[in-house]
Amino acid sequence: MSADQRDGFPGPPMFEIVIAGHGLRCPAEGRVLLEMERQGKKFLPVGCRGGGCGICRVEVLRGRYRTLKMSRLHVSVEEQRRGFALACRLVPESDLELRPARRQAH
Ligand code: FES
Repeated sequence: MSADQRDGFPGPPMFEIVIAGHGLRCPAEGRVLLEMERQGKKFLPVGCRGGGCGICRVEVLRGRYRTLKMSRLHVSVEEQRRGFALACRLVPESDLELRPARRQAH
């Protein structure tokens, strides 16, 4: 069942996630990257899906969210405080605006 099919039925609230200008609907308790994949969209690169590889790193520009466990190699405590996160570990608590923030290779 797609996110849109759930609209109008009892269930978790749906949030609007804007990633570099592209829209995505994500249920509360959904993880942004996995929901993007489920909907066949390719706004962000996908890797391990478990917070370990860092390929899906984003900066949250607007909105409330929580994060699941993430590798500190890719998002330090200080960066997390400033709004950086891994999209595969990002759970929306409101509409969100994100932009890709992949680290440059050294
Ligand atoms: S896909 Fe590997 S950290 Fe998100």
